[in-house]
Amino acid sequence: MTTPQERSEDLVDVLIHDHRGIEEMFGDVATEPGAEQRRRLANAIVAELVRHTVAEEQYLYPTVRRVLPEGDRIADHEIHDHSEAEADMKRLEGLDATDPDFEFVLTRLMTEMRQHMLEEEVDLFPRLRVAADPDELRELARKAQQVKKFAPTRPHPGAPDRPPANKLLTPALGLVDRIRDALSRRT
Ligand SMILES: [Fe+2]
Repeated sequence: MTTPQERSEDLVDVLIHDHRGIEEMFGDVATEPGAEQRRRLANAIVAELVRHTVAEEQYLYPTVRRVLPEGDRIADHEIHDHSEAEADMKRLEGLDATDPDFEFVLTRLMTEMRQHMLEEEVDLFPRLRVAADPDELRELARKAQQVKKFAPTRPHPGAPDRPPANKLLTPALGLVDRIRDALSRRT
């Protein structure tokens, strides 16, 4: 059952809501001193970023290409940025929180994502709302929310590590690929 508030949400509302959640998680990991907890928070951040990225790739960029002048250029630029961020997410998967590279890669990932969020919120989203059909943006909000529902349960920061879960976090099929795989089969 959806509330009237949810019904009136458009795609931009949904994606901005994602951004605020991501910012909150960045704040959590920045102030968390414990290595194990930082490792779990990093997993939760990666899971959320992949889900957000998939929602944007499926519902935002095709619309941007269609309705905005230079939409192809903008979408190509954003997808290029996503691929760079995703490479960092994969690097992060294999690192202990005590490894100096963990801090380096995590900081770079957060910087990239903050730049992405800023660009979208100050430039792309306002232009999209002017150019796109409001009813379509509301329909896309509903579809983007489905991605959230279908996303595999993200690693909870408070959950204890279990060996099978750790074994899955291998470079061969890590968190990023598992989530992408699950989303592509269900959306
Ligand atoms: Fe975004």
